[in-house]
Amino acid sequence: MSKISKFSLVVICGLISSSTFAAMPKGMPESYTTECASCHTAYAPRFLNQQNWQNITATLDKHFGTDASIDAKTLDEISKWLVKNAATKGRSAEYSPDNRITSKSWFKSEHDEVSAEEWKRPSIKSPSNCMACHAQANAGIFDEDSVRIPKK
Ligand code: HEC
Ligand code: HEC
Repeated sequence: MSKISKFSLVVICGLISSSTFAAMPKGMPESYTTECASCHTAYAPRFLNQQNWQNITATLDKHFGTDASIDAKTLDEISKWLVKNAATKGRSAEYSPDNRITSKSWFKSEHDEVSAEEWKRPSIKSPSNCMACHAQANAGIFDEDSVRIPKK
């Protein structure tokens, strides 16, 4: 095998493995996209623990100042998948008292390089808007190579 093809193989394997580890867990119900990604990013389940996902799915009628209720069957399939794939270890498994990903200490430390001015840019508006900077957030991918802070 030539040097070049060995190199490409390593790169390809690297790409495959990093996206496999980071992507959305399998079995994602289609309703997760239609019901939970219409107002914001489809948050990957690994960013909150089981209790936080249970709190969120049990109170969708009072969801961060809005009504995000869904029918019982859809709610059941979404909450089962979220709870099954919730964070169980590490910093992202820490309980979040306000059920937010963005209020957690790991979120703050991962984003300490983002300035106050950058958070307020019109195309970003809120730290909850992961998609503004992580183009592949809806696919559960947040690696450093795919981060770009928009200029405006
Ligand atoms: C009608 C619009 C709407 C729908 C539908 C909706 N949400 Fe939300 N959600 C919001 C708003 C508004 C916020 C607060 C965003 C902000 O502070 O910028 C939010 C925030 C969140 C957060 C916290 C984000 C953070 O800051 O860490 C989570 C988690 C979340 N939603 C999960 C869900 C799930 C799961 C569903 C589907 C069952 C869902 N949302 C459906 C409007 C919605
Ligand atoms: C204003 C742009 C911006 C927004 C909005 C944003 N991020 Fe980030 N994120 C960044 C930057 C910049 C980094 C640091 C990348 C680096 O280490 O070079 C980062 C890093 C991360 C990392 C660590 C990646 C790694 O491999 O080290 C994760 C995980 C992450 N963000 C998740 C999220 C989630 C989840 C949301 C939404 C709830 C979000 N981010 C919203 C800009 C943003």
